[in-house]
Amino acid sequence: MKKIAIVTGASSGLGAEFSRLLSEDSGLDEVWAFARRRDNLDRLAAAAKGARIRPLAADLASPEGVESLRSLLELERPDLRVLVLNAGRGSYGPFSDTAKDGILDMIDINVRSLTETAKDALPYLAAGSGMVLVASLAGMGPLGGRAVYAATKAYVLSLGVALAAELRQRGIRVTTLCPGPVATEFAAVASGGRVGPQDGSASPERIARRCLEDFAAGKVLSYGRLGWRLTAALMRLSGGYATARFSLKHLMR
Ligand SMILES: NC(=O)c1ccc[n+]([C@@H]2O[C@H](COP(=O)([O-])OP(=O)(O)OC[C@H]3O[C@@H](n4cnc5c(N)ncnc54)[C@H](OP(=O)(O)O)[C@@H]3O)[C@@H](O)[C@H]2O)c1
Repeated sequence: MKKIAIVTGASSGLGAEFSRLLSEDSGLDEVWAFARRRDNLDRLAAAAKGARIRPLAADLASPEGVESLRSLLELERPDLRVLVLNAGRGSYGPFSDTAKDGILDMIDINVRSLTETAKDALPYLAAGSGMVLVASLAGMGPLGGRAVYAATKAYVLSLGVALAAELRQRGIRVTTLCPGPVATEFAAVASGGRVGPQDGSASPERIARRCLEDFAAGKVLSYGRLGWRLTAALMRLSGGYATARFSLKHLMR
């Protein structure tokens, strides 16, 4: 049976790095790389140094996109070693000024698609395998100016930790990644092209590598940086409203 990894949102940023690193894992036959931008996926596949990276263009915010992933699993029945649920996007700005379609699309990709893909892929995970869910530091507390994004990531964090507890008895590991700012296309997408990554953002290669190490070690949460772990603890301690007020003042860009 073919041993594979699946990475959603593989066409840039953290997802591209997860795909590269997993393809270098000699135990895998293929990495299935999902995203909408086919050209980026093709470039990623052409540069693969280890296991084949298989480019699979799909809009995972749509029911058809999620169905394409599910039916490929059903057709090939692989031995799924690692499922990386990474596809997602943010949105900067107050709730009142954000278009409803954009909000719903973000919920579709960050929450609905991630949940459905986890459910569809679970039958292909066996003892010794597992999932990585990409949440965010933003999931640790409500954020003014990023209200819906933070709420979607709080959902991912809650789901990931609960699945880690539920699947442990079956020997299936679940690690939830909670990074702060990473130097990817995220900020440009979230701000409609107004801003790029903030100063001091982490390298996506480093954060993806650290996360896979934490996954291999069976950690439930991965932060990537000690500072982010401390920020997460502060956010939890400070109470939701204080965090939301602070972010409204300091994170608005
Ligand atoms: N960068 C940060 O500061 C940061 C911090 C915390 C958490 N995160 C999380 O990290 C994850 C990866 O983001 P990133 O920072 O690597 O940003 P990125 O470079 O913008 O990557 C986002 C990825 O998601 C994919 N994607 C978005 N919508 C999709 C859709 N409808 N269907 C399929 N794929 C879709 C994009 O591919 P296509 O556009 O080609 O479809 C892209 O590959 C996200 O879940 C994000 O919330 C990022």
